[in-house]
Amino acid sequence: MSDPRAKARELAAQAVQDGEPTRWFEELYALAERGDAAVPWADLEPNPVLRRVLPSLAVDGARTLVVGCGYGDDAALLLAAGARVTAFDIAETAVARCRQRFPDAPVDWCVADALAPPEGWARAFDLVVEINTLQVLPPPERARAGQALGTCVAPGGALLVIARGREPADPAGAMPWPLTVAEVEALAADGLVLERLDDLLDAEDPPVRRLVAVLRRSGR
Ligand SMILES: C[S@@+](CC[C@H](N)C(=O)[O-])C[C@H]1O[C@@H](n2cnc3c(N)ncnc32)[C@H](O)[C@@H]1O
Repeated sequence: MSDPRAKARELAAQAVQDGEPTRWFEELYALAERGDAAVPWADLEPNPVLRRVLPSLAVDGARTLVVGCGYGDDAALLLAAGARVTAFDIAETAVARCRQRFPDAPVDWCVADALAPPEGWARAFDLVVEINTLQVLPPPERARAGQALGTCVAPGGALLVIARGREPADPAGAMPWPLTVAEVEALAADGLVLERLDDLLDAEDPPVRRLVAVLRRSGR
């Protein structure tokens, strides 16, 4: 059977080589709409690690920003848990699909770039949920996006990061590129403090090393 990630990796490699590392997401979703590719991360279910940490997150009524929302399942889960949800993706085809899949959900679905969030999002969210998006950006864009997402966290709010993990000495490998603990710790900047960092094996078969971090901004 062919690797479902093969097309995504091919598009990613070309886009990175062309110096446009965020170009390929829309390309992939558009191909998938026509049945010409699979979106390898789209299992149409909320993320299981998010489900597990949700009770510890105080989401009821929280202004919540879902980063790289894909087909929208995590946004729908957070909405069902009582959050007020804004969810965005750089790929307009994915966002259009969210609106189709959840027509009655009062989620503010947006096309936006984590590298340059709208000015109105500065310090505007009690919870920013980033799952598996930093790991599909090359290191320079990953660091920029991480810093930019931090600016969206309101006083007293938190940034949740769920990402594949690796040792610094491990090869970065093919997309998705796992993060090191140091990369996650570096998100503690501009007033964000690392509150929790779990390094675990998830329930996938075979299990995948995941870093789960909560970074909080003081104040209220
Ligand atoms: C690996 S997928 C993860 C999707 C979803 N968060 C999940 O866990 O299933 C990464 C998502 O982030 C989106 N994305 C990539 N770069 C982005 C950026 N700079 N700004 C916003 N979304 C981005 C992609 O289009 C894709 O939907």
